[in-house]
Amino acid sequence: MNILILGSGGREHSLAWAIKQNPKCDRLIVAPGNAGIAAIADCADINILDGGAVATFAEENAISFVVIGPEAPLAAGVADRLRAAGLLVFGPSEAAAQLEASKSFTKAICDAANAPTAAYAHFTDADAARSYIRDQGAPIVVKADGLAAGKGVIVAMTEDEALAAIDDMFDGSFGDAGAEVVIEEFMEGEEASFFVLCDGKTILPVGTAQDHKRAFDGDLGPNTGGMGAYSPAPVMSDEITQKALDEIIRPTMDEMAKRGTPFQGVLFCGLMIQNGQPRLVEYNVRFGDPECQCLMMRLGGQILDLLQACAEQRLHEIKVNWADDHALSVVMAANGYPGSHAKGTVIAGLNSLPEDSFHMAFHAGTAETDGKIVANGGRVLNITARGASLAEAHEKAYAMAQNVDWPDGFYRSDIGWRAL
Ligand code: AMP
Ligand code: GLY
Repeated sequence: MNILILGSGGREHSLAWAIKQNPKCDRLIVAPGNAGIAAIADCADINILDGGAVATFAEENAISFVVIGPEAPLAAGVADRLRAAGLLVFGPSEAAAQLEASKSFTKAICDAANAPTAAYAHFTDADAARSYIRDQGAPIVVKADGLAAGKGVIVAMTEDEALAAIDDMFDGSFGDAGAEVVIEEFMEGEEASFFVLCDGKTILPVGTAQDHKRAFDGDLGPNTGGMGAYSPAPVMSDEITQKALDEIIRPTMDEMAKRGTPFQGVLFCGLMIQNGQPRLVEYNVRFGDPECQCLMMRLGGQILDLLQACAEQRLHEIKVNWADDHALSVVMAANGYPGSHAKGTVIAGLNSLPEDSFHMAFHAGTAETDGKIVANGGRVLNITARGASLAEAHEKAYAMAQNVDWPDGFYRSDIGWRAL
């Protein structure tokens, strides 16, 4: 089958890499892709937020399956537009993507489904939000309601910080995403990410992971999109996994189906676990980045069968074949990230790295100029390795990272510390 993947990051590079290993994959196109993806697939420069343009491109290129990587096209209804054109699509409808695109929507679903999550209140008025914060006190969490590229959440340790966040959000620093805020109880515990495929009825777990959101070693510094991840997450015992499925995920999926907007795609459940009890932090309606890179390394080519079964509503027929292994991904970012950073700096040494089912340097933000690989984003490379133990995966990934010659980039040296 001819397959089109939408997206341009390390997540999409790892999806392309795994899908390509499946003999069912004939032609593989990634739009828009990046320099690393271009080495294993065709790249096409189309506007992936324009469902009509994607549908036309898919028809012209005899595409039979479209896999949507990032949240923006999902929230823009691209999956709906492609399904209306008769295409097979992996990714939820615009209505179901609300589980990521609106925090207040998700909170209302949790209420209806009786799913454990932080207590909250929803505001469209800054004064009301401020007086709620003064009543509740700190620590407290302030969230812009809409999509804010991972930057719309302020975990405030003091009341002043929370009040400043309200000022920022109603001043428009987060665009339309800040016109509405959700204020939440601060939850303590250990975080983990749980990924399940859902075809509207059947739920199939495909892995767990933990990521590191802070920029610097020791979980210090500003929040980022994620500086590294590892899979599986040791905190996700069988008992906690079952509780998350029974108390949070199944009731959410049932509620979505009951409302006539069944969820079809991958549900990324951010959980906070304390005293053996998982609570929902947030949902995303796509694979995590860089969590996906770890999952793809562990799943390999079977991922195409899983995504296709999900899109064809046949998940009840399929099983995941698990190896008892571990994967770890180290993000190399441009100096200055998540703040301002240079573009176009040259990265050398990539050709010397091993590339096999245990080692991959996935490209997140790269381009090729004059035959050289250059940085073209904040998060630039995801050095990912697999091993029989987490320690082995860690050792392999860091051995690769040390051989990348990129003076203008940095990476954390302690990915996986909690589990090692
Ligand atoms: P989100 O974008 O909702 O995942 O939030 C980003 C990060 O903020 C999460 O990964 C958590 O570390 C933290 N966070 C969000 N909500 C809460 C909460 N209610 N209590 C504690 N930490 C939270
Ligand atoms: N790594 C977190 C995310 O993809 O949202």
